[in-house]
Amino acid sequence: MYKLCRPRRAFLLSSCIWAFIIFIVVRFVSFLPLRQPDSPPPLFHRLSPPAGNFSTGFSGPLVRIVHQSWASRKLPEQFAEWSRSFSACFPDFRRRLWTDKDNRQLIARHYPWFLRRYDSLAPGVQRADVSRLFYMYHYGGLYCDLDCECLRDFRHLLANASLVFGAMQGLMIRSPRDPAYVAEGQIENSFMYSRPRHPFFWDLIVYLNATTGEMPIMSSGPYLIMSGIHAARQLGIAPSGIRVDGRDFLTVYPPAYFNPYSWMLLNSRHCRLYGRFENRAQLRQCRDSFQDSYVMQYHTQVWAKGSYLISGP
Ligand SMILES: *[C@@H]1O[C@H](CO)[C@@H](O)[C@H](O)[C@H]1NC(C)=O
Ligand SMILES: *[C@@H]1O[C@H](CO)[C@@H](O)[C@H](O)[C@H]1NC(C)=O
Ligand SMILES: *[C@@H]1O[C@H](CO)[C@@H](O)[C@H](O)[C@H]1NC(C)=O
Repeated sequence: MYKLCRPRRAFLLSSCIWAFIIFIVVRFVSFLPLRQPDSPPPLFHRLSPPAGNFSTGFSGPLVRIVHQSWASRKLPEQFAEWSRSFSACFPDFRRRLWTDKDNRQLIARHYPWFLRRYDSLAPGVQRADVSRLFYMYHYGGLYCDLDCECLRDFRHLLANASLVFGAMQGLMIRSPRDPAYVAEGQIENSFMYSRPRHPFFWDLIVYLNATTGEMPIMSSGPYLIMSGIHAARQLGIAPSGIRVDGRDFLTVYPPAYFNPYSWMLLNSRHCRLYGRFENRAQLRQCRDSFQDSYVMQYHTQVWAKGSYLISGP
């Protein structure tokens, strides 16, 4: 038998671990429908096409703000650099960095009825997941995780949309009957754009507010967003059964635009999960392997103990 050399062994080991995690997540998620065990109202129970079209009261073509979030104001240098890339793409947009403290304050000040629920969520990733629903609802604008790099201006993709997501290749949820099934692939909550006071986010917030007890850690992130998209489509609200400021209710763009590197498919041999680039040249190669993209997401997954540090020059 050949002895596997080290990098190869590490690769195999990490593939196995990944396959195992995906397996567990799929099992977990598909056996824990969001309505269990406390039966909150189904998503969008108040919206139906006869309810008509929504006006958010925001009349501009574009919401010019980029929200990002980190535990404190002190960003790791690589994240600070990627964050600045949004100012290069959109010089007229404001960038807003939300800390854990700011998140709680936003809810305490404007949505005090949600505070108890908020405090009952797991600190870290779950509160961060839920807080971004509030940035979107309250202010609107663009949200992107800190491991996103903006490659070029894409305001033309936002101007006539009211709510935007980007798909990523890979189907974690395979059954069209699953309440979170979305045919385009995985929809992450790491990239979104919305006009303020969009009914999509209001409904997710009210939905979460009506749940009690511990929430499975997986249910507040992509799974929740995908459940919302699935429900909106099932009910005929989306893409355009209900219009928001005269625009389609929601728009899902293809993976090539905003999330070209799939952490499920590992579809570029130049990219590394968890930010494990050895130097900047590798990072550039990864980015350059997706020429058509507007935003590159590197999937550093710091929340799952990934790394965001590039060790070499
Ligand atoms: C909603 O807007 C669309 C197009 O803007 C229009 O065709 C439709 O009749 C409107 N629906 C209601 C109930 O006003
Ligand atoms: C938005 O829609 C309007 C009306 O359909 C159209 O004239 C305009 O070119 C569109 N803008 C963009 C950026 O696609
Ligand atoms: C949120 O939940 C609380 C407690 O159940 C309830 O009193 C409140 O009306 C809810 N708020 C909304 C907007 O649904």
